[in-house]
Amino acid sequence: MMIPVSIKGIGKYLPEKVISNDDLSAILDTNDEWISSRTGIKERRVVSGNESASELAYKASLNALENAGLDKTELDMIIAATSAPDHLYPSLSCEVLGKLGLGSGIPAFDVTAACTGFVYALGIARSFVQTGQCKNILVIGADVHSRVLDWSDRATCVLFGDGAGAMVVSKSDDAINRVLSVKMHANGAKSSELKIPIAGKNCPLVEPREEEPQFLSMNGREIYKFAVNSVPASVLEALEDAGLTIADMDYLVPHQANVRILDAVSDRLGISRDIVFANMDKYGNTSAASIPIALTEALESGFVKTPANVVISGFGAGLTWGSAVIRLENMGKTNG
Ligand code: ACO
Repeated sequence: MMIPVSIKGIGKYLPEKVISNDDLSAILDTNDEWISSRTGIKERRVVSGNESASELAYKASLNALENAGLDKTELDMIIAATSAPDHLYPSLSCEVLGKLGLGSGIPAFDVTAACTGFVYALGIARSFVQTGQCKNILVIGADVHSRVLDWSDRATCVLFGDGAGAMVVSKSDDAINRVLSVKMHANGAKSSELKIPIAGKNCPLVEPREEEPQFLSMNGREIYKFAVNSVPASVLEALEDAGLTIADMDYLVPHQANVRILDAVSDRLGISRDIVFANMDKYGNTSAASIPIALTEALESGFVKTPANVVISGFGAGLTWGSAVIRLENMGKTNG
């Protein structure tokens, strides 16, 4: 028998430094009109000085734990979705474990699925709780893309921002399961359409490789087409797996890449745009952090009124995509 799973709390943290579209137009051949009309983004947050992805993740985790009313010592696993962390190793989740001061030896690991990472991490967490292996898992989404962007490439650097979100996924206190479905997908055939290579040279005793700068590159049009096709199908698939239909979905909280993608997805699903949450105007695309940041703000602002069936949906590099259906109620302090 599967153990029922609930989301106990959710939180976020954004770096303080705000970069507006006008700020970017001072260093690039771009303007607020182009960026706003093509993407819906007005400003984004970026790390500054030695501020790190693990610091953002740690602060988001404290916020989620507080909102869940859970003491950090009750955690029995940390999973971090990240594609732009501080280091390849140690993992971001191990760094958060250290910052939390937890020395109990609980497992901590990262998941790389770009902007779908949070959905993947939730799916993994759900399985560990469902099967009785864990009671409380901290699921993090954190990315610092500002350090892997080519700030002279106007086609990509205007799109991204830094941030972190976190969620406490737990065994339900009652018999009700509230993580109703999580569906994940990947297709490696288009892996080169969106990537961040690792820079580095071959061993000096062999033929050198063609060097690639360690910057994000993207085929924007391909990713746009992929998103508007994959997200609606993925939302419907997750709802069906939960035994629900589109009419049962109270809110859609998708990955925040581009407002035009959300408009197209709403049209294709035949749903009102009013139930689709968007906050990329303030933060840009924060990659794996975007869904938990959006979900926290949707709750805090009262956009999402609980109890509610919420679908979260991600898409990104890999290519990867996936959606989850969650029932939000008793969300503690996260509720506005
Ligand atoms: N400012 C001004 N002009 C610009 C800018 C800019 N910042 N960027 C590009 N342009 C110009 C181009 O040079 C081009 O000019 P040209 O016609 O003279 O050649 C023109 O604008 C059109 O460029 P396109 O790239 O064709 O613009 P498009 O309408 O496709 O919009 C965009 C680009 C916004 C990137 C869009 O393709 C998109 O949103 N794609 C999806 C991206 C996405 O969702 N990425 C996140 C994936 S999640 C993850 O895993 C990280």
